[in-house]
Amino acid sequence: MKILSIESSCDETACAVVENGRNVISSVVATQIDEHKLYGGVVPEIASRRHCESITAVCDEALEKAGMTISDCDAVAVTYAPGLIGALLVGVSFAKSLALAAEKPLIPVHHIKGHIAANYIAHSELTPPYLCLVASGGHSHIIKVNDYTEFETIGRTIDDAAGEAFDKAARSMGFPYPGGVHIDKAAKQGNPTSYKLPIPKTDKPYDFSFSGLKTAVINLVHNAEQKGEQININNLAASFQNTVSTMLTTKFIQAAKDNNYKTIALAGGVAANSGLREALAQKAEENGMKLFIPPISLCGDNAAMIGSQAYYEYLKGNIADSSLNAVASMKL
Ligand code: KG4
Ligand code: ZN
Repeated sequence: MKILSIESSCDETACAVVENGRNVISSVVATQIDEHKLYGGVVPEIASRRHCESITAVCDEALEKAGMTISDCDAVAVTYAPGLIGALLVGVSFAKSLALAAEKPLIPVHHIKGHIAANYIAHSELTPPYLCLVASGGHSHIIKVNDYTEFETIGRTIDDAAGEAFDKAARSMGFPYPGGVHIDKAAKQGNPTSYKLPIPKTDKPYDFSFSGLKTAVINLVHNAEQKGEQININNLAASFQNTVSTMLTTKFIQAAKDNNYKTIALAGGVAANSGLREALAQKAEENGMKLFIPPISLCGDNAAMIGSQAYYEYLKGNIADSSLNAVASMKL
């Protein structure tokens, strides 16, 4: 089954053709980052406009690269939640029209479920059940993946998401948006134990909190500026990354141990972080767990992951009609 999938929940307009949930025939991602960078973050109104301008060309390109037309596809899938409402609406409206005109079933996909499914594309041997840590710009969740379409969230951030903390800390260090990747690069040249940063506590064992850590970095930079002291940015980036990786890894591995998981996975934009990937790989090995991580190209927002999840939604009969609407926030 070949599915044309569309993703427009934030600042990437993406389209892919995916076969049977696992085989990516084509995948196109048009990013708007250069424009949002000017404002230090995503400007929702600009995001919606750029999605409108590029969605037709992006979908044409995905079909062309696949050597197919829409009539060769068996269904149309789209991210309908969660995300920026105006951005989501562009993808949903486009997908609804396309599905109606081409007389194809329309499959609604939850963005976070898509991030998790990126692992199915990269790892043909991965099947549920397993425990997944999703860390992105908007989410930090520990999720029991009981089946392809059955999820249970057992841990979440009580304030900022991991990616948000990366981006805000990066901003205070002088890096452009989105700063996660810049912290990653700088951290490679720094000493991770040079700055002592707080590990925020939470009431529930698998919940996360990043806002105190983010504020600690911002205050550290401000205080140094006021006193005319030099900050070693590489060392601060390495210390911050090390603290976030330790926090995520410790709680996630504990959750896996407590719930008897031997198979675990990582997903979301922050899964691209080299410090987190290494820390988790080491802890998984120490605990005899098999860890799955998508390649960097599938960690950030893309439509291939949406096409993968869409296949399993279709098999479960999750088909939408033309009343499908975009939803800004939605639980798994
Ligand atoms: O999943 P994603 O592309 O979009 C959302 O669904 O939110 O995640 C984007 C987030 C941004 O906060 C970005 O800074 C972060 O992922 N990110 C990274 C790295 N690459 C992307 N964070 C840390 N290290 C990276 N290498
Ligand atoms: Zn995402």
